[in-house]
Amino acid sequence: MVGAGYVGIPTAVTLSHFGYSVIVAERDLSRLGELRAGRSPIREEGLDELLAEGIAAGLLTFTDNATEAAADADVVFLCVATPQGNGGEADITYIIDAATSISAALRPGSIVVNKSTVPVGTAARVQVALGRDDVFVVSNPEFLREGTAVHDSLHAERIVAGSDDPRHAEIVVQLFADTGAAVVITDTASAETIKYAANAFLATKLSFMNAMAAFCEEVGADVRDVRLGMGHDHRIGMDFLNPGPGWGGSCLPKDTAALLYMSQINNFDFPLLAGAIETNERQLARMVSKIEEAAGGLDGRTIAAWGLTFKANTDDRRSSPAIDIVQRLAARGAIVQAYDPTVAPGQVYADLDGVSVMSSPRDAARGAHCLAILTEWSEFSLVDLADIYSQMEHAAIVDCRNLLSAATVREAGFSYQGVGIR
Ligand code: UDX
Repeated sequence: MVGAGYVGIPTAVTLSHFGYSVIVAERDLSRLGELRAGRSPIREEGLDELLAEGIAAGLLTFTDNATEAAADADVVFLCVATPQGNGGEADITYIIDAATSISAALRPGSIVVNKSTVPVGTAARVQVALGRDDVFVVSNPEFLREGTAVHDSLHAERIVAGSDDPRHAEIVVQLFADTGAAVVITDTASAETIKYAANAFLATKLSFMNAMAAFCEEVGADVRDVRLGMGHDHRIGMDFLNPGPGWGGSCLPKDTAALLYMSQINNFDFPLLAGAIETNERQLARMVSKIEEAAGGLDGRTIAAWGLTFKANTDDRRSSPAIDIVQRLAARGAIVQAYDPTVAPGQVYADLDGVSVMSSPRDAARGAHCLAILTEWSEFSLVDLADIYSQMEHAAIVDCRNLLSAATVREAGFSYQGVGIR
């Protein structure tokens, strides 16, 4: 396994749990030290247990040297980062560097798997970088959600494997046989496209619901009931229909931008996808307007922000709508007091310039003119509203996650604004 990140670690522990011997290569020495000590450097439910299990069984080992990890392997998974380039494209420098560096060490007949999300055509470029006709490339995209990555990996719904020769894809599929997942074996371009199609579809679904939420506010409808009425149709489904402050995270924004970029360079006009991205941008701006209105302005006003991660049950703030919103509030002159269970006060954070990190929801609310709920941490629905009321300068709540009950909040004396609800 080359790369111990959000994809590499859950995949490694899943394979060791299934009985395979896995050696993980990670260049970041502090991350490596954590892993060797059996501690997960990322917050994922169930990861510490599977790490301990794999290490104790002698099936899970770690190195800082990708070439050493690759030398004895039948299958090498490339799980390195593919950051967003300047034009929106996914940058595959790390993938190509990894392929180039391990090439000479690989056993004849071994398989190199692209597990990172990579532009269509990358499998062919990795084959060229390897420069070997006795080593084979398989594209095996990952569909893990952060926070439930271990569960998603152990109980995958589908395994997609693309290769020039289906026998090589089959070898990769077999590794995950214990998941009981549906199997899709295809060519490399289709496997690579599937990942972008899935994430762009999910993003479009969310943008559609966020737009419907805005529509509901205009006509006096309740988007939560609209969701129920839609979702019982199995062709639509209940999942991914909750409106929010906008979608974020390390995948949806990056993958939609990359798919739009690939469409443009292939002279394919994709207004639907461009619209989904534009709608997300508008959703963030709409949340800031709601907060501004509820607080009676922004300049010099104190805003309590509950939640900074891009969703609950993760410590990841990459492309977090909450970060985007608190930065916009601060830029407009607001005094932002933020609380998140995964962000410790008293430290400097590059993404939280101009934002005060507090040690409790109560502290964040002190003296605030508006309380904005930005991430759906369950602890926020358990707070003593009367106590929060007593802390605030002006009792207004903007609930960007529809986490609280409007009736209960209003009974406690607050003004309440959700997303797409009366
Ligand atoms: C996503 C895909 O779900 C996963 O299959 C892929 O492998 C990686 O990208 P993840 O980034 O962990 O996973 O986040 P996800 O749970 O999909 O949520 C994405 C964003 O949508 C978050 O900002 C979340 O808050 C938002 N969201 C999700 C909603 O606003 N409403 C919903 O109903 C669901």
